Amino acid sequence: MSRLHINEHNKQSTIAPEIYGHFSEHLGRCIYEGIYVGENSDIPNVNGMRTDVVEALKELKVPVLRWPGGCFADEYHWKDGIGPKETRKKMINTHWGGVVEDNSFGTHEFMELCRQIGCKTYINGNLGSGTVQEMSEWVEYMTFRGVSPMADERARNGHEEPWTVDFFGVGNENWGCGGNMTPEYYANEYRRYQTYVRNYDPEKPIQKVCCGANVDDYHWTEGVMKTCFDHTPEFLHGFMDFLSLHYYVHPEGWEIKGSSTDFDREVWYKTLNKALHMDELIRRHSAIMDQYDPEKKIGLSVDEWGSWYTCEPGTNPGFLYQQNTVRDALIAGITLNIFNKHSDRVRMAALAQMVNVLQSVLLTEGSQMIKTPTYYVMHMYRHHQGAALLESSLSDVEEIGVDGWKVPKVTESVSMDDEGFITVTLNNLSAEESEQVDIQLAERGYRVELARIVTHEDMHAHNTFDAPETVVEAEFTAYESTESGISVTMPKNSVVELRLVR
Ligand code: AHR
Repeated sequence: MSRLHINEHNKQSTIAPEIYGHFSEHLGRCIYEGIYVGENSDIPNVNGMRTDVVEALKELKVPVLRWPGGCFADEYHWKDGIGPKETRKKMINTHWGGVVEDNSFGTHEFMELCRQIGCKTYINGNLGSGTVQEMSEWVEYMTFRGVSPMADERARNGHEEPWTVDFFGVGNENWGCGGNMTPEYYANEYRRYQTYVRNYDPEKPIQKVCCGANVDDYHWTEGVMKTCFDHTPEFLHGFMDFLSLHYYVHPEGWEIKGSSTDFDREVWYKTLNKALHMDELIRRHSAIMDQYDPEKKIGLSVDEWGSWYTCEPGTNPGFLYQQNTVRDALIAGITLNIFNKHSDRVRMAALAQMVNVLQSVLLTEGSQMIKTPTYYVMHMYRHHQGAALLESSLSDVEEIGVDGWKVPKVTESVSMDDEGFITVTLNNLSAEESEQVDIQLAERGYRVELARIVTHEDMHAHNTFDAPETVVEAEFTAYESTESGISVTMPKNSVVELRLVR
């Protein structure tokens, strides 16, 4: 039996809603088919956006959406995606399958999608192959109210009013697909490009995201921070609101990756062990940031995370389409608990990618749409958005797993919202055994207001278009009140949410 100790009197950092963000890239069937089908499609849509997908995303309370990439971003020239659709350039999507990109989904369409979902906008600019002028004009096009060449063009294209750009990424993975730069070279470019990402509306300043490291490339973080903070006058502070971090879980390593549905017990633990590695990555990158930014004014934006398996047999390898099992539910549960615990530094994240690609929350096939196990975990965890992280810790937790790939049996995070509701999210990582968790709070008298679970006996279980409800979010009843709190019995392979109130 494990014990979870909660001190509800000790509120810590606020869990930024943006930690629960998503990523939409021009990759495979994410944008086209998955989100955007065009106004003339037989699939029900509003202004070209699939109604089923938008409705499902609204239920998730998506706080922010990143677009257009990914690697796609540093080859995207935004002017190709505005104006009459018939005249928009058709080009090759060089990164993802070499297919034709007809640019029918561009800036106006992305802004319309965010309006329908009701989320903030995170645009990723092109530093790798674009110019400073191009980036600067994009910001002017989207956000300037008044007379200017770009604002006039926006109006001619049917949108008189400027939009709000909440976050702007100055390049993506510039250590790799975004230009193969050294940290010092990128950081100097970052300094220059970000200068021209103007805040036309001082009421709604754009938060700038500097390209951070891949996985454990601490050398990158050190080089970028050092160069950005070198010879930087005081007034320039605030020129970096976020530093990004990208980390994907490949069960069998980058080359082999591994199947999304066909794995054994050893690979189960290997995968979860790798998901837990996120904690060390955040700690160590954050420690480097602390040397330059001890007050943690700069947030860490883990704007690409999730599982990355070998693509589904018979699908285009360039489309990165994969299935999503109970194992992915655990990856999501573990990772989001880690983000919550580090919410003093991690203030934004984006699960890759929202529909039909890596650890997607939704999958589509023609007019059908299914929710994945990861969807239901994100749905349960939505109650953490904007809440205060509470001091909490586990004791008597068993270490389980296989040689070389050990994991704690249970992970957790706890928050309290403005109305005093306490959200507890727990994961049982065991593929063999249930686990009793004794929850103890500082005060007595808490009762369970809501209890939900995502689980399945079979760790390979997943939803398909023929059996769309194999793994769903269900009511959880295996708990009872104790003297000092609540005792829960979590089945193996499970993610549980409890909402407590006095
Ligand atoms: O998510 C797929 C790709 O992974 C993204 O385009 C890129 O940023 C990362 O390498």
